[in-house]
Amino acid sequence: MRLDRLLANSGLGTRSQLRDKISHGSVSVNGTVITDSSFHVSETDSITLDGQDINCKNNLYFLFDKPDGVLTAMEDKRLPCIADYIPDELKTKKLSPVGRLDYHTSGLLIVTNDGELSHRLQSPKYQVPKIYLATYRGLAWTDDETAVVASGFTIRDKGYAEEISPAELKTIDQEHAYLTLREGKTHEVRRIFAHFNKEVLELRRIELAGVKVTEGTGNCGSFRELTEDELNLLLKATGMA
Ligand code: URA
Repeated sequence: MRLDRLLANSGLGTRSQLRDKISHGSVSVNGTVITDSSFHVSETDSITLDGQDINCKNNLYFLFDKPDGVLTAMEDKRLPCIADYIPDELKTKKLSPVGRLDYHTSGLLIVTNDGELSHRLQSPKYQVPKIYLATYRGLAWTDDETAVVASGFTIRDKGYAEEISPAELKTIDQEHAYLTLREGKTHEVRRIFAHFNKEVLELRRIELAGVKVTEGTGNCGSFRELTEDELNLLLKATGMA
């Protein structure tokens, strides 16, 4: 990981403040002053800033495009799960998925060992937008139904009342629609569609806090590190930037 990013991840300042410090010779790696912010460091390196040892958290952030038919779990004896897609050298890094997608939902999952970011991304306090692309069967959405979704409503599909927060529905055609949620109740998209007598046939999460995967499923199964811009989107959305 880049030196400036690792220091920023450790909460020592903004990336531009840290680049400034690095270029002025305030940072040493293994006893050598490093003035290049893009210098590559790892968690075994010993780093000092202004002569003080830095306890680098070295958090890791990945984007997994979950295929349909994979459990959102790090371990399962019977079914394919996320761990099957994580390279061996990362298996000791205490990574876990942020929230969960149903077994039959594909799409964007953040996988990290940053507990604070994970907590905030899932907390209703930060209202982090998540966009789903649903393929469904049923009558076309009416303007009235879309307005009910937009204002929030009470659902009783489990035998008790539960509030569904306001969400944005945008129909594409009679079989496809985008739904943006800012909370994460279990099976929420499928339950919202079912409430209006529509059955979700396929579901894909395509965006979270501005971080995107393709709408098509061609990249399903890919696991890669978040770019710095993507990480910044998540940090901004959760008040951590
Ligand atoms: N809503 C659902 O119904 N399923 C998911 O996997 C995510 C949101």
